[in-house]
Amino acid sequence: MAKARTEYVCQACGAHQHKWSGQCPDCEAWNTLVEVAAQPRQRARGGGMSGVALGQIQRLSEVNLEEVPRVAVGMGELDRVLGGGVVSGAVILIGGDPGIGKSTLLLQALSALQQRLPTLYVTGEESLSQVHLRAQRLGLTNLDLPVLAETSVERIVAQMQVLKPGLVVIDSIQTLFTEALDSAPGSVSQVRESAAQLVRHAKASQTAIVLVGHVTKEGAIAGPRVLEHMVDTVLYFEHDPGSRYRIVRAIKNRFGAVNELGVFAMTDAGLKEVSNPSALFLSRHAEPVPGSVVTVARQGSRPLLVEVQALVDRSMAGNPRRVTVGLDSNRLNMLLAVLHRHGGIALGDQDVFANVVGGMRLQETAADLPLVLAALSSFRSRPWPGDCIAFGEVGLAGEVRPVAGGEERLQEAAKQGFRRAIVPEANRPRRGFKGSIEVIAVSRLGDALEYL
Ligand code: TYD
Ligand code: MG
Repeated sequence: MAKARTEYVCQACGAHQHKWSGQCPDCEAWNTLVEVAAQPRQRARGGGMSGVALGQIQRLSEVNLEEVPRVAVGMGELDRVLGGGVVSGAVILIGGDPGIGKSTLLLQALSALQQRLPTLYVTGEESLSQVHLRAQRLGLTNLDLPVLAETSVERIVAQMQVLKPGLVVIDSIQTLFTEALDSAPGSVSQVRESAAQLVRHAKASQTAIVLVGHVTKEGAIAGPRVLEHMVDTVLYFEHDPGSRYRIVRAIKNRFGAVNELGVFAMTDAGLKEVSNPSALFLSRHAEPVPGSVVTVARQGSRPLLVEVQALVDRSMAGNPRRVTVGLDSNRLNMLLAVLHRHGGIALGDQDVFANVVGGMRLQETAADLPLVLAALSSFRSRPWPGDCIAFGEVGLAGEVRPVAGGEERLQEAAKQGFRRAIVPEANRPRRGFKGSIEVIAVSRLGDALEYL
């Protein structure tokens, strides 16, 4: 195969260069030049646009509405994060730490799908016998799954043209290389160019492709962030070290809701779905303990009971520590300031540690109120009642603001046996709310603190 010409594109200003250099000659940014395959650039000769073929403009109302064909994988938790199944032509990126279970999950998914959709598993990391061993270990009955050990994108695409599968898994994108570039596999330009070729093929042939991506220590998918822009769906595997539970979260989804969660448990026979994970993230103390408040988080369309813990202790250092795990530390600092200003409780000389049980990450503002209550409960050494949940956003003026999905959250708490709930006034359930839970609606932070 003839070598394609390559050039270098600055990631900061987009300028094209013939040669690599440490600094972009155009915008003077450092280390931004990345090798790409040169696209032949046509210039319309003789002025004007006469040589350009024009695309057809349509009115939005005339555009055919085609129902996107979706194939359910048959694993409920995976289908949930995908928004109901795999859409043909969609490119899905799955990221996660090494050893978290990406290959395991995808092998199980392909096996579940095989009957309904022709699939192909391409491995660049493991040998075929390793894949076979894993399939046996997983107890997969269906072993006529097509597998391919290959790392050249061009050859993978050629195989796909022959086999015409409906879904292809590439494990992993970092092992692929394209013959169009000279750089080593795993480099930014290789990963990007390989992914771009696969995305083009997916769209042209309506093949769904799942790309497995490794995650760096910083938590980003290694290689260019641009991978996230190129694909339709980005899923991340999360877990708490030491826990057997794995959470798959949709970060981006053009065919479904974001922030949707799927929960799995890693067993000796692969990943098992946890279809009712609501109580997974509680630590279930025998008696109420200070500094622990249960809240109902909403992850995508799913309400989940989550325990927020705080430990407030006299600081031995000059400036007290503020440490959060699973929560935003800026938010903690802000809430402590609100607690001081509007609750009259000064924690300026105290270390404050905050944690979400079970390795869950809470980004929503509904965690504000439980966090403040947990901090105060720990500070005062006063246990929070074990049958009471709380949720709500806390504003800088000390007001408690409503959050989305109030009734659903209350319903879930009632279902799990909680008897009382402290909620924002505006989230007070309307008449007709079914669920036996006593609702204490508050509009100011002070009201909630008084309750404690
Ligand atoms: P793997 O899917 O290879 O992870 P990734 O592809 O994300 O790197 O998962 C490997 C881990 O899972 C490994 O630590 C062993 C464990 N495991 C089980 O506990 N049970 C099983 O049935 C399998 C196949 C793996
Ligand atoms: Mg793997």
